[in-house]
Parts: sequence; C-alpha cells; structure tokens
Amino acid sequence: MKEESKQGAFVLEARNLSVAFRDGKRAVEAVSNISFTVGQGETAALVGESGSGKSVTSLSILRLVERSGGVVSGNLFFHSPKHGAVDLLRQSEATMRSIRGNEIAMIFQEPMTSLNPVLTVGYQVSEALRVHKRVAPSEAKREALELLNRVRIPDPKRRFDDYPRQFSGGMRQRVMIAMALACRPKLLIADEPTTALDVTTQAGILDLIRGLQEEMNMSVLFISHDLGVVSEIADRVLVMYSGKIVENAPIRSVFFAPAHPYTSGLLHSMPATAASFGKGVPLRAIPGSVPPPGTALEGCAFASRCEFSTAACETASPRLERRIPGSSSESACHRAAELNGALASSLPWVEADDAASVRTA
Ligand SMILES: Nc1ncnc2c1ncn2[C@@H]1O[C@H](COP(=O)(O)OP(=O)(O)OP(=O)(O)O)[C@@H](O)[C@H]1O
Ligand SMILES: [Mg+2]
Repeated sequence: MKEESKQGAFVLEARNLSVAFRDGKRAVEAVSNISFTVGQGETAALVGESGSGKSVTSLSILRLVERSGGVVSGNLFFHSPKHGAVDLLRQSEATMRSIRGNEIAMIFQEPMTSLNPVLTVGYQVSEALRVHKRVAPSEAKREALELLNRVRIPDPKRRFDDYPRQFSGGMRQRVMIAMALACRPKLLIADEPTTALDVTTQAGILDLIRGLQEEMNMSVLFISHDLGVVSEIADRVLVMYSGKIVENAPIRSVFFAPAHPYTSGLLHSMPATAASFGKGVPLRAIPGSVPPPGTALEGCAFASRCEFSTAACETASPRLERRIPGSSSESACHRAAELNGALASSLPWVEADDAASVRTA
C-alpha cells in the first residue's frame, strides 16, 4: 500500500460534474454533481458497487458518454500539454480528437470491444502509433514490438501477426495497455483493467501499470469495485455510491480510518481483505442494494442500507466535506465525526492505535 497521497498540480479537475440519460420523457441522473481532482503523477481510484456511475464518469472525461445519449454538465478542467488548461466539456470535437488517445488514454472495461477482431494485434498497436505520433510504418512496427515486449507479451515478434482471438484474456488486456500507453498519455483512465483476470495475471498487470506510471510520471484514474486491487495501486480513493462521491481520502485512511459507513461496508464485504489479513473473520455483505438511478431521495442515498442512519439522514442530503478533526478525509456522512472511531475499530486489521495515528499522520 502506498504511504501517502501525492500533492501538487492537478492534471484533471472535475467540478460539479453531472451526467443524465433520457428515460422516456424524464432525465435520469447517473452521476450527480461530483467534484474531484487527479494530481500530477497521482493514482486516484474510483471505487463503488456495480451501477454506481464509475464508467459513466470515466466516459464523460473522454466525451464519449454523449454518444450513448448522455447529457453532461459541470466542468472538466484538464492540463493539456498541447492546448493548455482547457475545459474538456467545452472543446470542439477536433480538439477532443487530438486529446483522446494522445494526452488522455483509456483502457476499457471489455478488451474485446476495443480490439478489432479482423486486424492483427501488431497492426493495431502500430496503428495507434502511426495515427497519434505520425511515425513511418517501419518505425511504428519497431516501437510496437518494443511496447509489446514492455507489457510482457511473450515472443512479440512471433505473436505480432496473430489475431486477438489467438490471445488469452490477460494477453489481450496487456495489448490494450500497450495501445493506451503508445503515445505516453498524461492521464491514463483504466476501467476495471484486471477484473476478468486470474489473480496472478492481475498482479502482473497492476505491476506493469505501476511501473510505467512511475517511469512516465503519468496520472492514473483507476476504476475498480475491488478495494483489494485498489490497495495495491492507489494513492487516493474516491468512493462512489449511487452517482455521488461519498468519501475522498488517502489510501491508508480508507483502510485504517474509513470516514463513511459505506466505505467500511465495502471493506467488510471484501474477500481479499479478510483472507489476506488471515483473521478468519466472516464476510459481511452490505444489506439491500443501490437505489436505481432517478430515485427521488431527500436525504442520504445510503440511509436505507446504513446501520447508523438516524432521522436526519432521511431528510438532509450530506455534502462531501472534511468532517473529522485532524483528518484530510472528506466524507458525505452527517455522522462521520462521531462514527470515526467505531468504523475503524470494527475492521479486523485495525489495532487500537492505528486509526488515531492515520488521522494525525
Ligand atoms: N447509455 C446509457 N443509457 C442509459 N443509462 C445508462 C447508460 N450508461 C449507463 N447508464 C446507467 O448509469 C448508471 C451507472 O452506470 P455505470 O456503467 O457508470 O456503472 P459502473 O459503476 O461502471 O458499474 P460496473 O461496476 O457494473 O461497471 C447505471 O444505472 C446504468 O444503467
Ligand atoms: Mg463500469
């Protein structure tokens, strides 16, 4: 687990970002008024259950969500090496084309939808280089082979002319990473890049992203529902619930001093954590499910599933802010300050002094 969040200039800043989809006559919000930043060289992880709005958030950054009918509002400031500080939501399609793939690259949730089945792997990686870097075909092939080697495709020369179906899932995912990194992006968005893979391949891919990130001083927005995976790679965690960010905290604080009951619920329901801490503690699933998008709620969206909710939680929607004295964690829970000790001490791996020391670190 990394020690602390890297501070410094933001590469990306989302301000009051909302995304809505049409459902018949009504607009249904999938992402509601979220604000967050990704710093230079920082890995920020977006975590949350299925349907919480993680992919919609990442697709809106590349302005791809409009293509499937989404309406995006707010600001998405990006420090573009070529265009300077820009609001991605207010750029022309031509500018977006020069940013996508060059300055912001994405590894999508399903590799097969992003690789063309009728073109060879080598051709696709070289094409990424030819299109974005405008290099000659022979140079593109040389660089593509080097990239495939970097992402540890065995014997890349021999595999260069193979088709995606001849590759295993883990290898296809590595090809996707090679394509995403071809142009040395400033920001890499990785949407569940390891979810479909076995744990060994998963560990290899995480290693690879981490190594390349450090080498290129790239910023990463890493999306996952798995806090175990996130603990391996993130500096900071953004916990999403029902289209909102409910906690924004450095990685150690999330594990040793969670500031939202939903975060501690996710930690308790995580098999990898229970196993890796070897305490034989039974897993506890969070009762109930995420309210469907568009559910009209006055209070906290998590209240109906939260063992700590009070009458106030049903009526007033809590803002994401610093609520715990001495902690940099932001929480969208009315009771964050009073629950802080209890949430931490219920975690099997937290010793008595841990929560206090993480808070004051
Ligand atoms: N094109 C679309 N049209 C209508 N609704 C959509 C569209 N894309 C996503 N949604 C809705 O937005 C919500 C958030 O979806 P999203 O894909 O961001 O979830 P997620 O957090 O990435 O989940 P998962 O972990 O399963 O990938 C869901 O309720 C989904 O049904
Ligand atoms: Mg998703």
